[in-house]
Amino acid sequence: MTWHGTDGTPRLHIVTGKGGTGKTTVAAALAAALAGEGRRVLLVETEERQGISQVLDVPPLGTEETEVATGLDGGSVWGLSIEAGAALVEYLRLFYRLGMAGDLLQKMGAIEFATTIAPGVRDVLIGGKIYESVRRTASGRSPSGRSPSARRTRDRDAPPAYDAVVLDAPPTGRVGRFLDVTGQLADLAKVGPIRNQADAIHGLLHSGTTVVHVVTLLEQLPVQETLDAVRDLGADGLRIGAIVVNQARDDTVRSTVDVIATQEPDPARLAEQLESVAIRTTPAMIDGLVQTAAEAVQRRDLELSLEEAVAGAGRPVLTLPHLPEGIGPDAVWRLASELTDQGVQP
Ligand SMILES: Nc1ncnc2c1ncn2[C@@H]1O[C@H](COP(=O)(O)OP(=O)(O)O)[C@@H](O)[C@H]1O
Ligand SMILES: [Mg+2]
Repeated sequence: MTWHGTDGTPRLHIVTGKGGTGKTTVAAALAAALAGEGRRVLLVETEERQGISQVLDVPPLGTEETEVATGLDGGSVWGLSIEAGAALVEYLRLFYRLGMAGDLLQKMGAIEFATTIAPGVRDVLIGGKIYESVRRTASGRSPSGRSPSARRTRDRDAPPAYDAVVLDAPPTGRVGRFLDVTGQLADLAKVGPIRNQADAIHGLLHSGTTVVHVVTLLEQLPVQETLDAVRDLGADGLRIGAIVVNQARDDTVRSTVDVIATQEPDPARLAEQLESVAIRTTPAMIDGLVQTAAEAVQRRDLELSLEEAVAGAGRPVLTLPHLPEGIGPDAVWRLASELTDQGVQP
């Protein structure tokens, strides 16, 4: 697959996966890997959890884009937290040329309406911000200076503001709905500006600009959710990018287990070998070791079958190691360079 957009359009990378598999970590690593020399990548989160600021160890993100990391190859990663209430105020202000009407809207209950009563509208507002960041040109203005539904004046010669946009998206269980902005609005808005905006976002998500990557662990449930997501999102007309197997175990562990798997357990010989390096053994200890080895072989067999299932989805597979030291800016860089080694190109 290609990692960058075509004809001057930045690529929108949507990162999903079962909760807790490493979406935020992988989204940050992908952004750093894509931020090659001189390139600017925008890393976006939508759920007000401040996951990105924790992973990159920077102050909480707000609704202003701020530089959060240097890219692997000298570019820059910018962070943005999209919040539906702020997006609504901005949207109405641009669209209806309202002044700073945020307080008034708050009093009128418009923000509660859009974010809780009509959740479809919430996703359109968030999608609208993402749309705008993908389409914005380096002159700093959005293509139209207004909303995506009125972008007739787009300057096709101006370079985009970002070379890529990476979205730390909702988990697989909710991402289909989140991305189906037009379906969600079906009854709520058949015409009008919100509808036009939803149609524009739908167009972007289903265009060659957008790819959806799915993060998984080599465990039964995450892999099952991954395969379901690849099938369902594909059926919705979205392009699936890579499957990222995160927190994979060390190869040296795997090769040791491979050797163990070829041998019948021989408790007497095991005891003898341990005694020969001055380790005093007991029968319970030898039993425990034999048991542990058998479990490791079982675990390896399960992982092999899960790897096969993941490969069967027919998408490129990227594998990231489990980093025992935990996740911070250095770990993100290490994972970014793993991604680069496996073909992610800025
Ligand atoms: N490759 C990795 N090695 C070690 N720990 C990881 C790795 N990837 C993620 N983690 C840890 O796993 C947890 C979940 O990761 P996170 O990126 O927050 O997942 P999600 O966004 O899917 O909920 C976090 O504690 C994170 O530090
Ligand atoms: Mg997260």
